[in-house]
Amino acid sequence: MAVSIQMRGQIAVVTIDNPPVNATSHAERLGLHNALHQTTQDEAVKAVVLHCAGRTFIAGADITEFGAPPKDPNLPDLLAQIEAAPKPWVAAIHGTALGGGLETALVCHYRIADGAAKLGLPEVTLGLIPGAGGTVRLPRLIAPDHALEMIAGGKPIAAAHALDLGLIDKIAQGNLLDEAISLAEEATKRPTPPALIERPVLAVTSQDTWDSAARKITARARGQTSPIAAITALKNALKLDAPTALAAERALFLELRESDQCKALRHIFFAERAAAQGGKIKGVTAGPLSHIGVVGGGTMGAGIAVACLLAGYRVTLIERNTEAADAGRDRVHSTLDQSLKRGVLTGVAHLHTVENFQISTSYSAISDADLVIEAVFEDMQVKIDVLTALEAAVRPDAILATNTSYLDINVMAAALMRPSRVIGLHFFSPAHIMKLLEIVVTDSVDDQTTATAFAFAMRLKKIAVRAKVGEGFIANRIMSAYRREAEYMLEDGAMPWDIDTAMREFGFPLGIFEMQDLAGLDISWAMRKRLNATRDRTQRYVDIGDKLCEAGHFGRKTGRGYYDYSDNGNARPSAGTRALIMAESQRKGITRVQISDKAIMVRILGRIRSEAAMLLYEGIARCADDIDVVMVNAFGFPRWTGGPMFHASGQD
Ligand code: 3HC
Ligand code: NAI
Repeated sequence: MAVSIQMRGQIAVVTIDNPPVNATSHAERLGLHNALHQTTQDEAVKAVVLHCAGRTFIAGADITEFGAPPKDPNLPDLLAQIEAAPKPWVAAIHGTALGGGLETALVCHYRIADGAAKLGLPEVTLGLIPGAGGTVRLPRLIAPDHALEMIAGGKPIAAAHALDLGLIDKIAQGNLLDEAISLAEEATKRPTPPALIERPVLAVTSQDTWDSAARKITARARGQTSPIAAITALKNALKLDAPTALAAERALFLELRESDQCKALRHIFFAERAAAQGGKIKGVTAGPLSHIGVVGGGTMGAGIAVACLLAGYRVTLIERNTEAADAGRDRVHSTLDQSLKRGVLTGVAHLHTVENFQISTSYSAISDADLVIEAVFEDMQVKIDVLTALEAAVRPDAILATNTSYLDINVMAAALMRPSRVIGLHFFSPAHIMKLLEIVVTDSVDDQTTATAFAFAMRLKKIAVRAKVGEGFIANRIMSAYRREAEYMLEDGAMPWDIDTAMREFGFPLGIFEMQDLAGLDISWAMRKRLNATRDRTQRYVDIGDKLCEAGHFGRKTGRGYYDYSDNGNARPSAGTRALIMAESQRKGITRVQISDKAIMVRILGRIRSEAAMLLYEGIARCADDIDVVMVNAFGFPRWTGGPMFHASGQD
């Protein structure tokens, strides 16, 4: 049964038990409706505690029901009835109170949370706004500028912050349920506070905060409609009376629920979770991991070390010499310090994390490591030498992983004594922040190594996508393909800034040329030089990127790339690049033509999809949904389109 009632003295404890996340499914709404009726009728009940079994408080409406016709009781009506209950209700929050879950807590007369709980209204991330009174009740409990951040930003906040804002009344110091019952007992001795809906909206703490939050949200939306709708709903709540604002919120919610963006965002939500199925192998369980070795403390190695440290692993970083080790240590420490500043780590956790980290120039320091990830230079021989030395230094059952961007991991595995323990773990930069991890299975890897890699990704809170070996795996292979198409367009008539503008207008955070300037043009140049000898000479080849690199223009870091950069880092179209492009079109005898923004995107999207189709045909990607997950999380393909494959299917 989704909802049950137990008596604790005069307090009725209403427990929702609806795994996995207690989402407000039809059965749960019905159960709550009955519990409300029963506790109202029963004279022995003086107050009610609403509590959830399992890992979390209510995590929101049941998203799986969104496509189906609505069934009564609907959530807004049910919540209005709880709010009007003649006996006080106390919400006891653990895990996450999200969306309809937080809206349920808002109609309770008191809220108590455990210290680790998070509270939020993430509906905008699903293309929605809160649809059960959140936009109307929240600004009656906390200042509207903070409500705006929560509703239109969609990011959950920690219990301590919620207490500061006045969103909850108390943080439990001991057992949450016991303390919630005590709070309910106290509540029976005093008048029940007026329902939020009866109260006036609060004043904004500062108009500046409101204006700047609204500006930031609008700029960040980049074509996504729900954050803008959230601002509208909150403005309604501030100017209309509560019943009218509630009706306006519901109408907007229902309209958004049917929108293409909401369908696309739901698709990507479930696709991200389904990607983890790529690691499920019948009868195989993951091996334990506690000590992680990382070889190479450059950009990626340091980021990977931090990601592992933040997940609570003991980490040893290996570098070539003392100088490189010092630089690697500094990189790791400064990233951990930033995490402390951003509030990702508390002071105590920071101290503990630093204690878990050591750096060495000797492989003997990782002789007991369970998993070692190499992130040394992108060169096959360097990597094989490192992996061979590692194999001699670590336990026979240790897993050896490579973070290579493009190289053939089957070749690396074949060079070793124990190829079954070799796997690709392709992180994205910055590795401690980017959510995506491509898990690249070689031809020889054993199932336990694969299962362990997926479990490792989960502990790192990464979205793991399974890929097979092939130049650039999924992400870089597709990116190389649409980058080539963009380069063709340079010769055909567009300038880098035309293409970047079209991509940004489509919803990418950065265009392909801005992105390359940021990452450094030398990385892909090295890859092209490596492949030059075996390149198919019948295929069209654009020399512009190579020529920029030959002139030492590696992008932002050298002040020149496709763009020129001023000392303060601002990019501007480069006359030199324009001249080079015009000269290349002329050298090849190409008559340049105007290419519209629309035509630019047709060519880029077409190239993404045709390369994706090849990846599916070759079995490198498991399914089209995995490709959507990769493109959204690796290169900022606009999430609200659902990814390139979902977007294409909607346009047929
Ligand atoms: N509805 C249906 N299923 C849900 C769900 C929801 N709201 N939230 C999570 N699930 C499912 C997932 O699909 C997954 O299923 P699977 O095991 O079959 O793959 C399972 O629950 C566990 O989810 P996660 O793997 O994401 O577990 P985590 O522990 O990593 O995260 C979570 C838990 C933080 C609750 C995360 O699942 C989450 O963010 N969920 C979505 C929350 C949300 O957006 N709520 C708002 C919904 S809209 C709404 O409430 C409208 C209202 O205003 C009327
Ligand atoms: P980097 O040049 O910043 O760092 C490489 C580090 O490896 C240097 O600190 C170097 O001293 C160390 N090193 C080299 N040989 C070593 C050895 N034998 N033993 C110990 N340390 C050694 O390079 P970066 O960017 O960190 O790349 C590393 C790997 O990660 C490459 O394979 C790259 O393709 C891959 N990668 C890079 C991404 C990026 O955005 N930079 C993204 C994803 C993967």
